[in-house]
Amino acid sequence: MRHLFIPFFGAVTIAIILHFTTASAYYPQSYCGYNRSHNFFYGKKSLYDRLLYTNRTVRGASPYNPVTRLDVQFPPKWQPPRGIIYYIEVLDNYRDGLGACATLSYGGIGRRNATVTLMSNPNHPIDSTINVYGK
Ligand SMILES: *[C@@H]1O[C@H](CO)[C@@H](O)[C@H](O)[C@H]1NC(C)=O
Ligand SMILES: *[C@@H]1O[C@H](CO)[C@@H](O)[C@H](O)[C@H]1NC(C)=O
Ligand SMILES: *[C@@H]1O[C@H](CO)[C@@H](O)[C@H](O)[C@H]1NC(C)=O
Repeated sequence: MRHLFIPFFGAVTIAIILHFTTASAYYPQSYCGYNRSHNFFYGKKSLYDRLLYTNRTVRGASPYNPVTRLDVQFPPKWQPPRGIIYYIEVLDNYRDGLGACATLSYGGIGRRNATVTLMSNPNHPIDSTINVYGK
């Protein structure tokens, strides 16, 4: 029995080690982990939720400010609320592991407004799409 288990666990251990070493070898460490893209999802989209707002934010890396932070507000200041928010997705359009990280800094699920704060990685640009769904 024993001689069967040892090779099995040995293989699993090697697979786990390979998984972590390849993950960190390909994508650098950022403020929000090692993923290829930094996507964030809040709440749950249901069948009847519609797109209330979409914003693709693109900012170049700034030589004066190594880390760029910017707030994307829904609804924008000149617009009335369009419904109750049930789902927010922030999609990082970069594929190099150095796209912006996001936090939901105000409002959000179950509310009529939300502010998503995008934070670039040092000396890297931002290209993120924010989709807000609700009814
Ligand atoms: C990174 O990927 C893991 C596994 O796919 C996922 O659970 C996690 O939410 C992701 N984090 C970010 C910031 O994209
Ligand atoms: C998207 O967000 C940026 C950053 O807040 C803002 O400057 C821009 O006007 C927004 N665009 C739309 C279509 O809401
Ligand atoms: C956000 O919505 C709440 C009600 O849900 C309202 O009281 C508040 O004034 C709104 N804030 C902004 C900045 O739109």
